[in-house]
Amino acid sequence: MYRSIFRPDLFAGQTFIVTGGGSGIGRAVAHELGSLGGQIVLAGRKAENLAQVVAEVEQAGGTAVYTLCNIREEEQCAALVRFALDKFGAVHGLVNNAGGQFPSPAEFISRKGWHAVLETNLTGTFSMCQQVFQQWMGQHGGVIINMVAEMWRGFPGMAHTGAARAAVVNLTMTLAVEWAKAGVRVNAVAPGTIEGSGLTKYDPSMKPFIELVKQDMPYFRLGTESEVAAAVTFFALPSRRLYQRRNAQGGWGQFPMAQNMADRPA
Ligand code: ADE
Repeated sequence: MYRSIFRPDLFAGQTFIVTGGGSGIGRAVAHELGSLGGQIVLAGRKAENLAQVVAEVEQAGGTAVYTLCNIREEEQCAALVRFALDKFGAVHGLVNNAGGQFPSPAEFISRKGWHAVLETNLTGTFSMCQQVFQQWMGQHGGVIINMVAEMWRGFPGMAHTGAARAAVVNLTMTLAVEWAKAGVRVNAVAPGTIEGSGLTKYDPSMKPFIELVKQDMPYFRLGTESEVAAAVTFFALPSRRLYQRRNAQGGWGQFPMAQNMADRPA
């Protein structure tokens, strides 16, 4: 049973789109928001994973549906927002969690691989923001939370995702200013290395590196998916307008911490 630190009905009647919701951090976000009364629209590319998370959220007493969506395709992003509006009549929050990358020294990243990572992590995130704004939030307000990564010291071993995530941070700040007029809050959460299903996708040869990452952490452990989900929830809170234009940022692998707490009400 998933136990949240937040009040159970915090998001009662509110609809959240969570991309990349079939596993890892996206799954934890779905559990967290679902356990707080949110109506969750999961999106991703693997029906089996998405259906499994829907079943889990429902089993815990929550409401969730899923639809397939490849965020690299603009029309599929548009269709995802239409799907959520058809199902629930509103979209209060968008969690842009979908993303992907692969480890490679920079000198060996092919142009195709580079573009694939940029298209998913940067362009896909932009398309989702734009679609949800055009179809709903531009008129009604809402919250957007972009999942980025701890890349402030560069991202050795994954130059493509470091560049893409840094770009999303900048995009986040731009949209937060441009869309404040519509009552749309835009923030980003930057997890470091997180224990969980994402890590298992990497080659076992990465294991020693991950052990080294732990040594760089204040608590000598990796962050957890539920810690990231709690940070996402924090930025989704209706009372968090103060945090417009600011990011939650973790250390190399630690749980996200709010930094540079801010001054700019929406
Ligand atoms: N998760 C990873 N890549 C994705 C994509 N292109 N679309 C949706 N979810 C994803």
